[in-house]
Amino acid sequence: MKVTVVGSGYVGLVTGACLADVGNQVLCLDLDARKIEILNQGGIPIHEPGLLEIVQRNRLAGRLSFTTDVAASVAHGDIQFIAVGTPPDEDGSADLRYVVAAARNIGKHMTGFKVIVDKSTVPVGTADKVHAAIADELTQRGTALDFAVTSNPEFLKEGAAVEDFMRPDRIVVGIPTGEVGERARAMMQQLYAPFQRNHDRTLFMDVRSAELTKYAANAMLATRISFMNELANLAETLGADIELVRRGIGSDPRIGYHFLYPGTGYGGSCFPKDVKALIRTAQEHGHAATLLNAVEEVNDTQKSVLVRKIEKHYGNDLSGKHFAMWGLAFKPNTDDMREAPSRVVLQALVERGARVTAYDPVAMEETNRVLELDFAGKPAQRAAIALAQSAQQALEGADALVIMTEWSHFRSPDFAAIKAALKAPVIFDGRNLFDPAYVRGEGFAYFAIGR
Ligand code: UDX
Repeated sequence: MKVTVVGSGYVGLVTGACLADVGNQVLCLDLDARKIEILNQGGIPIHEPGLLEIVQRNRLAGRLSFTTDVAASVAHGDIQFIAVGTPPDEDGSADLRYVVAAARNIGKHMTGFKVIVDKSTVPVGTADKVHAAIADELTQRGTALDFAVTSNPEFLKEGAAVEDFMRPDRIVVGIPTGEVGERARAMMQQLYAPFQRNHDRTLFMDVRSAELTKYAANAMLATRISFMNELANLAETLGADIELVRRGIGSDPRIGYHFLYPGTGYGGSCFPKDVKALIRTAQEHGHAATLLNAVEEVNDTQKSVLVRKIEKHYGNDLSGKHFAMWGLAFKPNTDDMREAPSRVVLQALVERGARVTAYDPVAMEETNRVLELDFAGKPAQRAAIALAQSAQQALEGADALVIMTEWSHFRSPDFAAIKAALKAPVIFDGRNLFDPAYVRGEGFAYFAIGR
């Protein structure tokens, strides 16, 4: 099939590359000429395992191409994915400017039936706005053409996006009513046929339910995390071990083991943004969103859980203290620093007078970029943060090690080497990587989450 993907960011690029990989002709559009240039030269503008290979393979096979030409992109695809960014407004609601602009472009240039697919995470009701924008453009052109606006939310995890796309748990597609809706259903069924494996995983539903499903899934997962973080803090006070409690409850199939890990709070591009946006939607429609507000509040507090432990150990004034930090990205296998708890901890530590030497296997460049934003106008504080070339180098002469991201090679470190490099054997572990009894047996003061 001929598919256009508008927006060659994270979601758009994964979608385009994976759809090309099963044989479709895919054209990806982005207005950012720099991004398109990188893609046309065989690179990718983001870090995602497996994505470069699949992009290169399909580009060379002629199934995947990239353009900044809007008219060409509209002409190409019978199916037009909209996968542009929806950055949060100041009040937390999703900014639909780029989505509506993409819709208008489709309306301006289309010459026949199109299925428009909202792939960006957008508030309930957005498909109606996309429909209205296209209809308005057609009216201005004095043209009447059929089209269907569908909603097909993505459930991709960073670091596993290619796998998630290729082997989905489910494919949610919201289709409009009537004849155009049925045409869209048939085309979407055909498009996703290669991804069904042993049974049909497509859930067709009405458009609003599909739009809400995305928010419901992310809010549910965020709720589990905040629940576990709240319980972890309680377990600590009660002298219980949250890891044992986690196993104790996870073994109940109604609860399950997934997404029950306490830590330093959830970050990333989805959970924080989507929980905020859902709260906003609820409030706009007269619902208090009591639970979701609490989920967010617990998470905000949890981001500085390690700061509170550090203050408890050293006191509020950290001047003269030097911390090693392992892990900066909001989770492993990505360089994404959006809403990363490490940013909150870095800021808190240097505000209290400490120095930090940090290391992350892939997020160093991205860290440099976001620190410019976080410390704009505070050059002295920015200068208190150095980046090391290796995990071991970060440790040299530091008072303690602070672990923010659970990269797999942090899980079984050489404790003797850590001890030798640090001034004192102290570890603040925001990801519960180690067995407390073992680490304490190695002579460390070990502070973890909920145990
Ligand atoms: C998430 C959803 O999983 C995905 O389906 C959706 O499409 C986008 O949002 P992502 O943001 O890439 O994906 O990361 P995910 O692996 O879900 O982790 C989100 C955050 O929750 C991370 O900060 C992670 O550290 C945290 N987390 C996750 C926990 O603190 N505990 C857990 O048990 C699981």
